[in-house]
Amino acid sequence: MNNQKNNKETTHKRRVRYKGTHPRTFKEKYKELNPDKYADTVERVMQKGNTPAGMHRSICVDEILDFLKVTPGQIGLDGTLGYGGHTQELLKCLDFKGHLYATDVDPIELPRTKERLEKLGYGSDILTIKHMNFSKIDQIVSEAGPLDFVLADLGVSSMQIDNPDRGFSYKNEGPLDLRLNPNKGISAAERIKNITKDELEGMLWENSDEPHANVISRTIVNEIKKGKTIDTTTELRDVIAYALRSLPADTRDEEIKKSSMRTFQALRIDVNSEFEVLYEFLEKLPTSLAKGGRVAILSFHSGEDRLVKKSFQRYYREGIYSEISPTAIRPSAEECNANSRARSAKLRWAIKA
Ligand SMILES: C[S@@+](CC[C@H](N)C(=O)[O-])C[C@H]1O[C@@H](n2cnc3c(N)ncnc32)[C@H](O)[C@@H]1O
Repeated sequence: MNNQKNNKETTHKRRVRYKGTHPRTFKEKYKELNPDKYADTVERVMQKGNTPAGMHRSICVDEILDFLKVTPGQIGLDGTLGYGGHTQELLKCLDFKGHLYATDVDPIELPRTKERLEKLGYGSDILTIKHMNFSKIDQIVSEAGPLDFVLADLGVSSMQIDNPDRGFSYKNEGPLDLRLNPNKGISAAERIKNITKDELEGMLWENSDEPHANVISRTIVNEIKKGKTIDTTTELRDVIAYALRSLPADTRDEEIKKSSMRTFQALRIDVNSEFEVLYEFLEKLPTSLAKGGRVAILSFHSGEDRLVKKSFQRYYREGIYSEISPTAIRPSAEECNANSRARSAKLRWAIKA
């Protein structure tokens, strides 16, 4: 009898439920992960300035729409589909006339977003979603012709950051992966296995301006040489904490947090070749846009913003762009209060001559 009961208990898999009233882990947030069923929970999370699990809140929507001035009949590209928030706004402007292409490299979130948009009535007559890198914008242009508008909202979505299985955050235990497309290239764990101290230090400096790049890279490489495996997010965070153990006690925890964030960012940029693909995209933009075509790029990192600024300025000097944003546009204080992830955003735009 007892045995039977035990068998039943081991085979029956209970859904992970909130522990008390404050769910902590991604999987405990089953209400947020079911927004259709638990709309009130999702609303409450957003009112607190947080992003519900499994969702992404689009940033600078008004500023982007004000600039792109999308009208029915136009053809455009949203290079970074993500949760489809910007895509949906652009589709509303098209009013079922014209066509929107949307690309994303993430094979996990893309089908979910596609299904969500299809349910809203956006089928292949108005929207073509492609699993591809926006750096291949020329392939879209050879199918669609010159584009009236282009949007790129760089970096990662909240769904990617918050899902521990993707390994994007030092805060949650998960595999040290950090790839936007986990089926392509090598994971961050693989990347650091045979890296030299100098290469890692250079990566931390160039990709994230990490002030402790020297000691962090030395410690990581030494630990790996001693046989330590750094295969998970928390294993890497612990090595960073160990590297910074001699910092003054009053600032140590904060420094470890910031360095962990920057180290993860540097690795993410590296394993996804983010600077390289952005450069390729920026180089192809002038020949991808129609005359008077508009491009808006939202970045979250000074290195990316610098690349966008330099490219826009160069092609403006050469007369290829007739106008470019004089400075980076920042989200309003109101938006930053409502969505903490908006704080580092910078928007730049250009118009093809
Ligand atoms: C910040 S999110 C976009 C959110 C989206 N604008 C929205 O409103 O939901 C960035 C998305 O771009 C994708 N991405 C990043 N780099 C990319 C690239 N080079 N080509 C295509 N997609 C990319 C990521 O996988 C992620 O889904």
